[in-house]
Amino acid sequence: MQSPFTLSARARSLKPSSTVAVTSRALELRHAGVDVISLGVGEPDFDTPPHIKAAGIAAIEAGRTKYTGVNGIPELREAISQKFERENGLHHAPDAVTVTSGGKQALFNAFFALLNPGDEVLVPSPYWVSYPEMIALTGAVAVPVPTVPEEGFQLDPERLERLITPRTRAVLLNSPGNPTGAVFPPEVLQRVAELAQRHGLMIITDEMYEHLVYGAEQVSIGRYAPEHTLTVNGASKAYAMTGWRIGYAGGPKAVISAMNSFQSQSTSNASSVGQYAALAAFQQHQETLRFIEMARRAYHERRDFLVAGLNRLGLPTPLPEGAFYVMTDTTRIHPDELEAARIILDDALVAVVPGTDFAAPGQVRLSYATSMDQLQEVLRRLEQLLARR
Ligand SMILES: Cc1ncc(COP(=O)(O)O)c(C=O)c1O
Repeated sequence: MQSPFTLSARARSLKPSSTVAVTSRALELRHAGVDVISLGVGEPDFDTPPHIKAAGIAAIEAGRTKYTGVNGIPELREAISQKFERENGLHHAPDAVTVTSGGKQALFNAFFALLNPGDEVLVPSPYWVSYPEMIALTGAVAVPVPTVPEEGFQLDPERLERLITPRTRAVLLNSPGNPTGAVFPPEVLQRVAELAQRHGLMIITDEMYEHLVYGAEQVSIGRYAPEHTLTVNGASKAYAMTGWRIGYAGGPKAVISAMNSFQSQSTSNASSVGQYAALAAFQQHQETLRFIEMARRAYHERRDFLVAGLNRLGLPTPLPEGAFYVMTDTTRIHPDELEAARIILDDALVAVVPGTDFAAPGQVRLSYATSMDQLQEVLRRLEQLLARR
């Protein structure tokens, strides 16, 4: 007789994120009293800005704690529509905007709204770990478009075009990118937009890190092919609101409406309190911009410090132009990145993420969303580790 606890084929096929695996191991060590520094998780170390917190508290006190419309409260969709216009040059009316439980759910809804089993999605690699797994849940497959550290992980549109087949349905971009920090310049985005138009592809662009650029020009690809583009974004990284779970998307109405149908049968709506807090982030945008600029400068300084330090130690690390991650070549520590990450955790007490699930062999990802003191200590520990080997 079959056990009632036999897990579904989908559940069994799902790979747990290696980011989570490393973080759990680091937490275990910490719990055991070991002083581990975690550069594993991609989360701002800043607190949510006070004006946003205050709006969340006010929403609770005013009893705004009920279900909202599936696609979010109208004021927030209106504010997001204006934000798209003001900051990205995108024209999405409020009914072409949807609010979700984090950027992750926007992506989930988008993949389910757009993909059929057997479809292919072109994804520049190294890519964020969740993309191929989410895409696989729909029965579609992520096809990596390789980018390399020697070219600063830049996307080559010709390479992308060569990978288009009759089954290609979409291109998924993430610029500034996790884990590479690469920012794709306007001319590359323009070429990808042309390809999408020529081959009838959808572009899904994840712009979660749009504000975190250190000199490079960040442009929304939706400007070049509005009818082909779904733009996904969220409050998590920009406003240090990871726990509030607010994401959003804007794009063709038919796609947004299908995403809303999926949401209506899953989570119903994003947290009402989170939505009111996010509304303050958009409405009081001068104050929010001051916070973003403060955070951006801090990340910039940390990036420069960490990249210079790692290269000095003989761990080759390209200078990323955005987000808050660096990719480091750890073959000097061990040719296999999983083993290298284990050695770094066990012997240097620093948690990093092996590049394995990012399609980045021989490399690990370090997040610099942590204090300069911690980064200094990380370099000190790595120096000692290298001296011992
Ligand atoms: C590239 C990318 N997209 C989306 C997300 C998800 O963001 P959220 O916390 O809003 O679900 C993350 C979070 O790590 C990310 O790195």
